Amino acid sequence: MEIIITPDYEAMSKMSAVVIAREVKRKHDLVLGLATGDTPIGTYRELAKLHKEEGLDFSKVTIFNLDEYLGLAPLNKNSYNYFMWENLFKHVNVSQHKIFVPQGNTDDPEEFSEWYEKQILNVGGIDLQVLGIGGDGHIGFNEPGSSFASRTRVKGLYEQTIKDNARFFDKEEDVPRFAITMGVGTIMDAKKILLIASGEGKADVCKEFIEGPVTSQITATALQLHSYAIVVLDEKAASKLERKEYYNWVRDNKHVVEKRIGR
Ligand code: GLP
Repeated sequence: MEIIITPDYEAMSKMSAVVIAREVKRKHDLVLGLATGDTPIGTYRELAKLHKEEGLDFSKVTIFNLDEYLGLAPLNKNSYNYFMWENLFKHVNVSQHKIFVPQGNTDDPEEFSEWYEKQILNVGGIDLQVLGIGGDGHIGFNEPGSSFASRTRVKGLYEQTIKDNARFFDKEEDVPRFAITMGVGTIMDAKKILLIASGEGKADVCKEFIEGPVTSQITATALQLHSYAIVVLDEKAASKLERKEYYNWVRDNKHVVEKRIGR
């Protein structure tokens, strides 16, 4: 994993938007996997800015979102579909028929999950998957114990996740207990992965998933087994990393090698 430590939330947002924009420019019909949560809001703001000010073109990009609460209709204000429209889709020129977000109010979540996987395959797989990380180390809604081979399916939410996400709802009881989520296996099939994290609250889990042992109890540790994963953190989220100086040294010196291999 390439670990990039940035000074603060703003810098993390800018850096992650640059990584995404680089891929969009490289492949106009990029298949982009996206995440929700507070963490990527700044990244999406930066992408909207790049679209507005520099003409970053999303017209041929296909988007697959990671997850959705089971039972919430797409227009529900707490749905991830609504979140994505508010924070990104309506600010860029992504074409509506190229947007895929799991349908929370589907009658048949199992059939829907299979259909979702097929749609990803039909467009040749995800090129770049953007991730945040939950307090319990989840990616998507792959709660502790999720198999690394798991595919899109319904997952029951862990107590900590319900508590963490209660801030978006009127009361904790309103947080749905289930979600449809891409599996760890679905995420790992993406050609490239970008995980972003910020704030002190994520420091422990970032140390665990970057420097701890690989375990399905912290599903983000699966990224240690991926061939192309970039992690962009702010200082606070990186504050408990033991090998911080090493990561910074690599970041500051990798151009020496990149030049030689002509990247
Ligand atoms: C939810 C989402 C995750 C996200 C996590 C962290 O549980 N399913 O995809 O990474 O929240 O959210 P935040 O960025 O608000 O800390």
